[in-house]
Amino acid sequence: MKILGIESSCDETAAAVVEDGRNVLSNVIATSLEEHKLYGGVVPEIASRRHAEAISTVAEQALKDAGCTMDDIDALAVTYAPGLIGALLVGVNFAKGLSLSTNTPLVPVHHIRGHIASNYISNDANPPFLCLIVSGGHSHIVAVKSYTDFEIIGKTRDDAAGEALDKAGRTMGLEYPGGVSIDRISPQGDENAYQFPKPKVTGSPYDFSFSGLKTSVINTIHNANQKGEKINIPDLAASFQKSVVECLINNLEAVALERKYKNIVIAGGVSANSKLRAEAEKMCKKHGFNLFLPQLKYCGDNAAMIASQGYFEFLDGKTADESLNAYATMPIDSLSF
Ligand code: KG4
Ligand code: ZN
Repeated sequence: MKILGIESSCDETAAAVVEDGRNVLSNVIATSLEEHKLYGGVVPEIASRRHAEAISTVAEQALKDAGCTMDDIDALAVTYAPGLIGALLVGVNFAKGLSLSTNTPLVPVHHIRGHIASNYISNDANPPFLCLIVSGGHSHIVAVKSYTDFEIIGKTRDDAAGEALDKAGRTMGLEYPGGVSIDRISPQGDENAYQFPKPKVTGSPYDFSFSGLKTSVINTIHNANQKGEKINIPDLAASFQKSVVECLINNLEAVALERKYKNIVIAGGVSANSKLRAEAEKMCKKHGFNLFLPQLKYCGDNAAMIASQGYFEFLDGKTADESLNAYATMPIDSLSF
């Protein structure tokens, strides 16, 4: 079964054809990232305009690369939540039009479920497994009970890991996205040069909090500026990255041990981070867990992961009609459309 996936939740306009949920036949991505760099973050209005300009060409290219026409496509999977609402609407409206005009079933896909599915196209991961999802908007530990059944075990109380990295990177004067810049310069720094307080989260033992860490970095920079002291940015970046990764891995390890999971999956844009990948490998090796990491090309936003998850949602009967809307927020464990 061939699924055409469409993704437009943030600044990537993407389309891909995936066969039977795992075999990627094409994967096309256009990004407006360079324009957003000028502003130090994604400007929603610019992202929406670029999606509207690019989406038809990107979808056509994905079909062409896969050697397909719409006649070969069994279902259309589209990201409908969560994300920037104007950006999501471009993809959803495009998919609705294409679905109606070609009489192809329409499958709404949750973006974060899509990130998890990046491991179905990268690896032979099969639920059940425990998944750490770390992106610009989410930091979750989720029990993936089946391809379409999820339980949130831990989540961030404030900033997502990627958001904290991006904001800290910006204060350090690094290029957007800060997470990528911090990963790039950290090997030049000493990760033990700065000590940050360990975030304390009351209530759920598996929740995260990153805003205190982020504020701590910002204060370190402001205090040094006021005193006329020079900050070693690679040292600060490496130390901050180490603290963020420690929080993520500690909670993941605790849940895996407590719930006796053997298969551990990591997903989302921050799963490209080299420190996170290395520490996850160390932790999993220590306990004899199997670790699944997405290939780097599927860590960030793409439509192959949406087509993959779309396949499993389609098998589960989750189709929508032309009344489908987009939603800026939506929990991963209880979808509505
Ligand atoms: O999943 P994603 O592409 O978009 C969202 O769904 O949010 O994630 C984007 C986030 C950004 O915060 C970006 O800084 C972060 O992923 N990111 C990284 C790396 N590559 C992307 N963070 C740390 N290290 C990286 N190598
Ligand atoms: Zn994403």
